[in-house]
Amino acid sequence: MEQIAQLRTLGLFDARVPRYTSYPTAPVFSPATGADFQAECLARLDPAEPVSVYVHIPFCERLCWFCACHTQGTRTLSPVESYLGTLEAELAVVARHLPKGVRMGRLHWGGGTPTILPPHMIARLSDAVRDVFPVADEFEFSVEIDPTMVDADKIAALRAAGLNRASIGIQDFSPDVQAAIGRPQSFEVTRDCVAMLREAGVASLNADLVYGLPHQDAARLADTVDKVLSLAPDRLALFGYAHVPHMSKRQKLIDEAALPGDEARFRLARLAAETFTAAGFRAIGIDHFALPGDGLARAAETGRLRRNFQGYTEDTCPTLIGLGTSSISRFRQGYVQNAPATPAYVQRIEAGGLAGAKGHLNTDEDLVRGRAIEMLMCDFAIDQDALRREAGPLADILLPVHAATADRFASVVARTSDGGIRLAPGGRPLARMVARGYDGYAAENAVFSKAS
Ligand SMILES: C[S@@+](CC[C@H](N)C(=O)[O-])C[C@H]1O[C@@H](n2cnc3c(N)ncnc32)[C@H](O)[C@@H]1O
Ligand code: SF4
Repeated sequence: MEQIAQLRTLGLFDARVPRYTSYPTAPVFSPATGADFQAECLARLDPAEPVSVYVHIPFCERLCWFCACHTQGTRTLSPVESYLGTLEAELAVVARHLPKGVRMGRLHWGGGTPTILPPHMIARLSDAVRDVFPVADEFEFSVEIDPTMVDADKIAALRAAGLNRASIGIQDFSPDVQAAIGRPQSFEVTRDCVAMLREAGVASLNADLVYGLPHQDAARLADTVDKVLSLAPDRLALFGYAHVPHMSKRQKLIDEAALPGDEARFRLARLAAETFTAAGFRAIGIDHFALPGDGLARAAETGRLRRNFQGYTEDTCPTLIGLGTSSISRFRQGYVQNAPATPAYVQRIEAGGLAGAKGHLNTDEDLVRGRAIEMLMCDFAIDQDALRREAGPLADILLPVHAATADRFASVVARTSDGGIRLAPGGRPLARMVARGYDGYAAENAVFSKAS
């Protein structure tokens, strides 16, 4: 059967499923698990194990219509400066709870648009983070960069702060698509941004693209992909456009009649993926690509690929400390999300407490199910022997789920000799749907976006 017809029969185009950047997913988090739990988890960190830190900058000068990120528009820097003051205050509160000697192995600034910060604020934020989290011997600092919102001085300030990995937002280069998503961005501006980053010595560059956008067709996407390849990135993210106007109000500006249909969307994703792999990139997980020498590709080859809120990572550190509005912290014991709206976040910090507003305390079963889902999203297989090594006999609670999965997706899922499962290459687009079968909260969590 042709792949699309087979996937349709298996329900791919009808499914609305989470992206599983965490397990359980954020809609399961409860207000009963907030700042007190966060304080306890911070206090119990092992100083011998470097942590990862995420800082959220919820501001953009432009507000692209397609965007579902947690951000707000601003034309002036005054709200940004005042937010920076709150981040510094949050860091001071976090510092009060940390044991001595905790170091930072990774730092990521995301948004919104972190490059809205002018050079002196970049230095100020970097200093504030490093004061509380001195860097470990191996340190990686990555930042999400809007090419229309950056210049050589900002890049120099980021480099001085240790930037060694940059991620630039592209989405699509077609002027028609850009007009339909409210995000003008010329190839020239993007190319100059890449040149500045490379000149400054940034060794690793990721580019974000989106398929399924209004007016996107094979010719326009092929042209975008060619232009992106001419920029010589090391990694690529190819996200399916998540159209969720009930959650992201500005998406109401998107003309739904211009959105590609299910099959067209699928073909667009396949076209881009085939071009990237033909150009020498390895496909990583459900939506990433990396050159063979890149850390992400090496991690995928050696079973060290992990999934977190930023997508895929070779970061195996169990602790991620989220700072700023809406950020999620991950601890061995569970998750805590900071207040999702900036005024509520500011209020909590000004009251002298941590900003955690809701979260989840992991049970042993959550850890087993979460790791199985992560394996599926990273490796398209669940290694039952590895799960047993990590979780002991409890891992075998999943044996009936493996059986049910192999039954339901018989044409693309096979059982493995250790009792686990493996998705055939043609069935990989079903990874999120298959993962949902392992989700013990599937009935409770809200549905995010199309599985395809
Ligand atoms: C914080 S933004 C990128 C940084 C920067 N603000 C910029 O626009 O270049 C993160 C990425 O999320 C992706 N994204 C945002 N909204 C999306 C949506 N509705 N569906 C799929 N991907 C989306 C885009 O690829 C975007 O580059
Ligand atoms: S895509 Fe980037 S610049 Fe555009 S609204 Fe989203 S976060 Fe802001």
